[in-house]
Amino acid sequence: MINANATLPEDKKLDYILIVTPNHVHFDPAMKAIKANIPVFCEKPLCLNTKEARALVKEVRDRNIPFGVAHTYLGHWTSRLSRYIVQSGLLGEVRWVDSYYIQGWLATKLEATGQMQATWRTNPQMAGGSGCGGDIGTHALMQLRYVTGLNVVELSAQMETFVEGRPLDDHFTIYAKLSNGGKALVRASQVCIGYKNDLGIVIAGTKGTLRWRQEEPEQLTILLPNQPDRTYWRGDVKAGDGFIPKDIPADLLAEPTIPAGHPEAFHDAFARLHRCFEADVRKWHAGEYTGNDGSKYANIEDGWMGIAFIETCVKSSNKKGGWVKMPEKI
Ligand SMILES: NC(=O)c1ccc[n+]([C@@H]2O[C@H](COP(=O)([O-])OP(=O)(O)OC[C@H]3O[C@@H](n4cnc5c(N)ncnc54)[C@H](O)[C@@H]3O)[C@@H](O)[C@H]2O)c1
Repeated sequence: MINANATLPEDKKLDYILIVTPNHVHFDPAMKAIKANIPVFCEKPLCLNTKEARALVKEVRDRNIPFGVAHTYLGHWTSRLSRYIVQSGLLGEVRWVDSYYIQGWLATKLEATGQMQATWRTNPQMAGGSGCGGDIGTHALMQLRYVTGLNVVELSAQMETFVEGRPLDDHFTIYAKLSNGGKALVRASQVCIGYKNDLGIVIAGTKGTLRWRQEEPEQLTILLPNQPDRTYWRGDVKAGDGFIPKDIPADLLAEPTIPAGHPEAFHDAFARLHRCFEADVRKWHAGEYTGNDGSKYANIEDGWMGIAFIETCVKSSNKKGGWVKMPEKI
């Protein structure tokens, strides 16, 4: 497909490609597409290791070509609102974050039955250096980084395997120091029976706390001292209500496409990421693309950061949870 694209007339060429294969089949098609000047929207985790991630970052930067990483949950409007609330200081300084993703579908040895999704996710050659951490811990990390704008600078990791004979972790608990001096837990599990896709985040600041769960993605809760809890619903947020400032950006308020009470969910989050990516691809075709700052969807540097995080967790876990510094930037 990539080779054939080169010989097509301009108006028939691919706009961009999606890479939705298992993790070990991300790097090669991504690199081929970028080298053929085709923008890429790639599933997470970006690839298998930081060697591959660095090569992708270099190629994307050299060509200044649109590249997105499919951290779906950033596309919920409530994630956009959370980011605005935290990064405009409405909760004060961030002291503590609990970012988690809890599932139960790998509580038994599903891979022994040949089930496709379980088989590659528990195979280090196909999944990478971490099972649970790479698969869903990277979503918890990205949610923390996107909403708070903070990075993990040092971490202590416990990567555990509850299901006997499984070569990768199915339970992942990371205690982290954040770039502002705050602390965080980034945690994930695939062995909590009954849990489905319980990704959520709690952010405790010096003035208040924010609570959000993707299984109820239309609402977020703000907890303030000596006040009743406030629940904000997508599409029903008013500027100047005593917490949300008058100058909240109009384009943020206007972003939801369907009125409040008609629920948006997982597919809408994906659609929002794709709308933003498509806008960048159009700019790029028009010669007006200046780069992706990560405010609308995860960029190539975010992809690299996810892989660097996993490698740092593996190092720490091998040292029985000893503190290990994260690489600062690429
Ligand atoms: N962003 C999200 O919310 C989200 C959700 C689920 C999965 N994912 C990611 O999406 C990717 C795929 O996961 P999945 O659960 O859909 O996997 P899956 O096993 O359901 O599907 C993978 C597909 O890739 C195909 N495939 C496998 N090897 C191939 C190869 N060498 N060449 C071409 N096709 C090949 C398989 O036939 C299958 O159709 C993974 O990287 C995963 O981490 C992301």
